[in-house]
Amino acid sequence: MEEKILQLKEKLESEISKVTDGMALESIRVAYLGKKGSVTELLKGLKDLGDAEKKEFGQKVNQFKNEIQQTIDEYKTKLAELEVQKELEAAEEFDMSMPRMVARGSYHPITLVQRECEAIFKSMGFTVEDYSEVVSEYECFESLNIPKHHPARDMQDTYYLENGQLLKTQTSAAQNAIYRKYKDALVNDGKPIKAIFPGRCFRNEATDACHENTFFQMEGVMVGKDINISNLIFFMKTMLSEVFQRDIKVRLRPGFFPFVEPGFELDINCLICGGEGCPSCKHSGWLELCPCGMIHPEVLKAGGIDPEEYTGFAFGLGLTRLAMMKYGVKDIRDLNSGNLKSMEQFAE
Ligand code: DAH
Repeated sequence: MEEKILQLKEKLESEISKVTDGMALESIRVAYLGKKGSVTELLKGLKDLGDAEKKEFGQKVNQFKNEIQQTIDEYKTKLAELEVQKELEAAEEFDMSMPRMVARGSYHPITLVQRECEAIFKSMGFTVEDYSEVVSEYECFESLNIPKHHPARDMQDTYYLENGQLLKTQTSAAQNAIYRKYKDALVNDGKPIKAIFPGRCFRNEATDACHENTFFQMEGVMVGKDINISNLIFFMKTMLSEVFQRDIKVRLRPGFFPFVEPGFELDINCLICGGEGCPSCKHSGWLELCPCGMIHPEVLKAGGIDPEEYTGFAFGLGLTRLAMMKYGVKDIRDLNSGNLKSMEQFAE
């Protein structure tokens, strides 16, 4: 048996010296220490020996077994070190100073549309406002003439936070702050309030080709003396014709929103199907793009503005919808997918 151990030792040494990777090392371990390995066979053979021999050889075989395990472990460490060494050598060939071709990124289609709208409204004298994504219930609902427990709140499935605040469901949530910010200039200097507010909105919606739980809107308000519906139509038409670089078809339908009276739905002719009907426009040929209306007196009051003196219009432009129309994106979910392949096509 001693002879057997010696033979195996020699064989192992010669085999292991040829090993260059972890896989080969593992097959050696299995060949010796595995269930059917040579050392395991030796251990099984002990049962045929007498007590004294069993003890003597048992110790030797066990010692041999430990030696093999140790050799294999050492070799494993050595192989890992060699691997690192190889990588370092390869890295030395990497010249950091060499000019490299780096793919240029691009703006997201929604950012493109947002910036375009901002530029158009700025040119018409509107300010661009920045506001929070987390707002109070007062800002998102009460100040907009939607009292607590009013059924109109059910129109928007809201994500509430543990501290009682919420993720804004509509950019209208900024209206109150905008009125408060500019009301003194309106009253004292007779400067009409003209502001837009682009931002991300959140609703707990089931998603499909035209619904997402996260989307972008752009709120717009104009408040001053004698502001009326024809002002609203003028600004909307001008803006949309600029965005699409052509005279696009629009239609106004009555629409209910607690913060405007009268309220409208402004639709544009679906540019994807040309009005014939497709999944993006729910087969109607029209796409609801921009609800709007004359600001409700209660909303002006909440913003510290006297509705007897001043009137105004407001609109909530769907920036996400607008981007879909403008760039022919058929499924709204593509926009939040983070899929660079589909976004790359907007690189300028
Ligand atoms: N905030 C409304 C929504 O998200 C959209 C809206 C409707 C905004 C009418 C307005 C408006 O300013 O006048 O559904």
